[in-house]
Amino acid sequence: KTIALLFGGRSGEHEVSLSSAASVAKNLDTSKYEILLIGIDIEGNWYLQDDDELRRIRSGGTALSIKKDENRRVSIIPGGGRERAFSLAGGKALPVDTVFPVLHGTFGEDGTIQGLFEIAGLPYVGCGVPGSAIGMDKEIAKILWLNAGLPVVPYLRIRAGDWKNRDKRQNLIETAERDFSYPLFIKPSSAGSSVGTGVAAKREELEACVGNAFAWDSKVLIEPFIPAREIECSVTGNRDFEAYTPGEVAPTHQFYDYDAKYNDPNGAALLIPADLNEATLHKIRELAVRAYRTAEITGLARVDFFIHKDTGEIYLNELNTMPGFTSISMFPKMCEASGLSYPDLLDKLIGLGEE
Ligand code: DAL
Ligand code: MG
Repeated sequence: KTIALLFGGRSGEHEVSLSSAASVAKNLDTSKYEILLIGIDIEGNWYLQDDDELRRIRSGGTALSIKKDENRRVSIIPGGGRERAFSLAGGKALPVDTVFPVLHGTFGEDGTIQGLFEIAGLPYVGCGVPGSAIGMDKEIAKILWLNAGLPVVPYLRIRAGDWKNRDKRQNLIETAERDFSYPLFIKPSSAGSSVGTGVAAKREELEACVGNAFAWDSKVLIEPFIPAREIECSVTGNRDFEAYTPGEVAPTHQFYDYDAKYNDPNGAALLIPADLNEATLHKIRELAVRAYRTAEITGLARVDFFIHKDTGEIYLNELNTMPGFTSISMFPKMCEASGLSYPDLLDKLIGLGEE
């Protein structure tokens, strides 16, 4: 089988994808799969990578890089199907069996590229169009979860146009301060890896954080900053769902920010299973599946939770339909803890993509 591994992408999480995809490339069983590496640069151009890059990664490289050779530009063909899904500069067709978009964030995890695969008639790994779009937009996910009676952290949504208007902005700030108290947590509604997020202890910081978050999305959420433990749960499935052993991320930073995730080797301790009693572990798995189904997810997702440090209350935080896949990432590690090895997990995801 030929698997086209897509990586990079037009997103704030481009770099994360280079590591995730390297790890996927290493763990795909080469006795079953031939791998085509297609790198997407930050402007959105697609380039077929040569076998040297694959060899470099499989012999120990930890992040893919994108060589931009104009002769190896790739485009996708609408209605091309498996035989003619992609074409190389000059018109040569690249037959593939399945695409594996190891892309995080906008244009990779939000339903847009999934729509392109649908149009091309090409099977792909991961969540479908509606679930991807829902999973990417934290406000939409919360609305659906609230509607299903699932627990979420309360929030105030701000649109860029309202923030630009002086009176409306004043009003929004006063509402946030009245409904929640400082410290406040600010995040773009659609982004990942904590890019554009921040904590504000007073009004000036709130204004600065909201301004910063608008660099990533035109919709920003303000939430009370909850002193919480961060619990995560991997789920897979299209119709039959499986939730794996929950894990816990204990950041050494104020919260699990971008640096704690990727730049600081001591940024967080990862615990699998999470240090919770059996009943709570069970409840997390059950809630994870309900959250997944409610948000129309297929393929896979990592469902992230908060547990309030003082009250023990459980809140759904958010979904990641293409969670981090590096060798130390939580998603594959939590599956491993339930007895599903990384290569077997990849087989399973490819199978689900082809269903
Ligand atoms: N958004 C990053 C990749 C994650 O959820 O792991
Ligand atoms: Mg995320």
